[in-house]
Amino acid sequence: MGVSKNDPLLVIGGGAFGLSTVLHLLDAGFTNITVLDKEEIPSRFSAANDLNKIVRAEYEDPFYTDLTLVGFLHCVSGEAPVEALNTLNRFRAAAEIHPKIKPKVVSIDSSADIRDRFWQYNQSSLPGWHGYLNQYDGYAHSGDALKGIHKATKARGVKFVLGDEGAVSEIVYEKTSKGRKSIGVKSVTGVFYPAKLVIVAAGAATSRLVPEIGQQVVAKSWSVAHVHLTDEETSALRGIPVTYARDLGFFFEPCPKTNLLKLCPMGGGYINTDPGTGVSTSPEFLEDSAFLPKHDEAQIRKLLSQTLPSLAERPLVKKSLCWFADTKDSDFIIDYVPETSDSVILLSGDSGHGFKMFPIFGAWVKDMLTAPDSQQPVPRWRWKNPPKKTKRGDWGGAVSWRLGETRELADIAPGHRAKL
Ligand SMILES: Cc1cc2nc3c(=O)[nH]c(=O)nc-3n(C[C@H](O)[C@H](O)[C@H](O)COP(=O)(O)OP(=O)(O)OC[C@H]3O[C@@H](n4cnc5c(N)ncnc54)[C@H](O)[C@@H]3O)c2cc1C
Ligand SMILES: *[C@@H]1O[C@H](CO)[C@@H](O)[C@H](O)[C@H]1NC(C)=O
Ligand SMILES: *[C@@H]1O[C@H](CO)[C@@H](O)[C@H](O)[C@H]1NC(C)=O
Repeated sequence: MGVSKNDPLLVIGGGAFGLSTVLHLLDAGFTNITVLDKEEIPSRFSAANDLNKIVRAEYEDPFYTDLTLVGFLHCVSGEAPVEALNTLNRFRAAAEIHPKIKPKVVSIDSSADIRDRFWQYNQSSLPGWHGYLNQYDGYAHSGDALKGIHKATKARGVKFVLGDEGAVSEIVYEKTSKGRKSIGVKSVTGVFYPAKLVIVAAGAATSRLVPEIGQQVVAKSWSVAHVHLTDEETSALRGIPVTYARDLGFFFEPCPKTNLLKLCPMGGGYINTDPGTGVSTSPEFLEDSAFLPKHDEAQIRKLLSQTLPSLAERPLVKKSLCWFADTKDSDFIIDYVPETSDSVILLSGDSGHGFKMFPIFGAWVKDMLTAPDSQQPVPRWRWKNPPKKTKRGDWGGAVSWRLGETRELADIAPGHRAKL
């Protein structure tokens, strides 16, 4: 291990991966940790700044105090393409092969099975819906989880620099006999922060700080929208499972504090490719993501009309594209940036399924830091040599668990806004 417990460490990004790492490094005895984030936590740029995220039991950990075991109703609708059904069946097989989960999996063979189990759906058509219910799964309030860990780690002495002073513009390197080594980072306001080790956890903005990653990481987004319910509607929907039709999208039990019901349409997502480099990065301004593409709105309304028809025509609020860091194989990247003398670690490639790892993610960073050979012990999480440059960065379109075509933001944005 190149760093010792009292060396100054910088973590860039206080999202899911960054905060989890901070917690585990504190537990491992590191004493001088500073987190830099361009916003207060939870940041509006964090993919985890959200009401709810699905938590599948395969990853369950006692740390998840927010975890609510409401169940995960995982189906396809009657019109689903065969790929959607095949994916569903692979998920189901994965749950049923696990001895602890298997007893919690219930077959859903018809819409009547759903109506019988959840009275809230007793008026719902659910045409052709079938799949399974996993009573071992649930969801967590991800925005609150970030807030909680921010507070807890700050109380234990971690320094947080949030806002413009914490917005990092670049990693600073010095030349060495072996190449280069980072000595810290610079903020957009010109402040230099020295460090022995820089840990980059900037989510979809990864390639701005670590351009060496190239097309291994593709900034991609999915739509999120909400229906604002009345108090009565919110209480009536307490206890519904996370409800997911693989071909349409999914929604959650409404939040009792805000009365918001969160919906995500299913789709191939949107990318924002720089024509010069072929690399997709997240847009710099939130306004560029504050809309709901027409096709996604149609999907959401179809999902609602089959499940909660009284909400199908309601206004959709808090609409946005939520950006994450995608990789071709949906594998994370937890590794040293090559040729930096082990002075920079990259945490990326969450691929849109990373929040459920919040309680345990940081342990994998610690394992790598303390590995005797300074190597990522898990081969699939290593930095992969970038392949030959391809024209577009839209990798991962063929990943089985996401259905649909990936499109360029510029092609669907209202008024065809600026590219980057
Ligand atoms: C629509 C949608 C639905 C999802 N649903 C699920 C789900 O159901 N279950 C699940 O497990 N996962 C889900 N995810 C994925 C999950 O949100 C991500 O995997 C997780 O948030 C990734 O964590 P991260 O720390 O890598 O990035 P983020 O949480 O995005 O955090 C990145 C942080 O870096 C900061 N930052 C960026 N640039 C800079 C800079 N230059 N200087 C300083 N700070 C910077 C940002 O402000 C932010 O706080 C979903 C994602 C999306 C978009
Ligand atoms: C942490 O590191 C910074 C940067 O080197 C240094 O200025 C500071 O004194 C250190 N703090 C402690 C408590 O060691
Ligand atoms: C649906 O359930 C509610 C609450 O139990 C009940 O009031 C209503 O009559 C039910 N409707 C049907 C069609 O069964």
